[in-house]
Amino acid sequence: MTQKTPPVCDYEGSDYQKSFWDEGGRAYEDKAEEIALKRLLPKSGKLLLEIGAGAGRNTPRYKGYERIVLLDYSRTQLQQAQERLGESERYIYVAADAYKLPFVDGLFDGATMIRTLHHMKDAPAAIQQVRRILESSGNFILEYANKLNLKAILRYFLRKQEWSPFTPEQVEFVALNFDFHPKTIRKWLEKSNFRLERQLTVSHFRIAIIKRFFPAIFLAKMDSIAQLTGDWWQLTPSVFTISEAVGESPVASEGAFFQCPQCGSTSLKEEPEMLSCSNCDAKYAIRNGIYDFREPLT
Ligand SMILES: C[S@@+](CC[C@H](N)C(=O)[O-])C[C@H]1O[C@@H](n2cnc3c(N)ncnc32)[C@H](O)[C@@H]1O
Repeated sequence: MTQKTPPVCDYEGSDYQKSFWDEGGRAYEDKAEEIALKRLLPKSGKLLLEIGAGAGRNTPRYKGYERIVLLDYSRTQLQQAQERLGESERYIYVAADAYKLPFVDGLFDGATMIRTLHHMKDAPAAIQQVRRILESSGNFILEYANKLNLKAILRYFLRKQEWSPFTPEQVEFVALNFDFHPKTIRKWLEKSNFRLERQLTVSHFRIAIIKRFFPAIFLAKMDSIAQLTGDWWQLTPSVFTISEAVGESPVASEGAFFQCPQCGSTSLKEEPEMLSCSNCDAKYAIRNGIYDFREPLT
């Protein structure tokens, strides 16, 4: 089953949470995202997969879920999440590639991917993986970076930007950073057996001069109202969607959880400090409470 997967935008050793969020002047965007998530999240759920969890900025917002799996490619992001969230049986930390999710089919009743799809060169492959691990009727909250945003449209007409915001293909504006067209995202969701239920446009006021003159909390309140137009048009840099998994999904058998990302076997045995695949013999470390599926131990 080992297949070649696209390159990963590696956040190992990054201080993203501190430099981008805590000290990066993004209180307005953070609050606007909190409002959008609150609107979309179901009241309750059993097991949620947070893909690209980073340092766990959004994790405390998933209040209704009994357990949450924080998955990220970066081990150091997960360590930061552990520090932020503290010790709890409610959280499971997994270092793995979103293109090769190490879980059995149909395991989760919810999944989120916030500010992560924009690092995916092969976004449809990542979306298909999400569908695979969701049970039928499970829900998927996906945030994506929108190329059809007002700033990009203006820049294009003023000839300050070469790429067209109107065409369906994704644009890689910096290496491994992609903006997507809303229509294309909707097509990919549908093709992967997701039924789009709701769209919220987020960060309407992500413009330096506006942010300088108006308090974050005021902008977030204005954003909260404007978000409600998200099903009609999408012209913001960020769009939140919720979709339902439709069609058949295998039911994960009792006790089954992890799947070997190398051979696809669901027969993984937990030993002290490692998981061992009884099919291909690959061994994966469990270090400081993090299941590490990035590569097998040698
Ligand atoms: C911009 S950060 C967002 C973190 C968090 N969702 C938030 O909104 O604060 C993107 C995260 O996606 C992770 N990531 C990128 N590519 C990934 C992949 N292929 N598999 C798993 N995680 C990935 C990065 O390590 C990083 O922590």
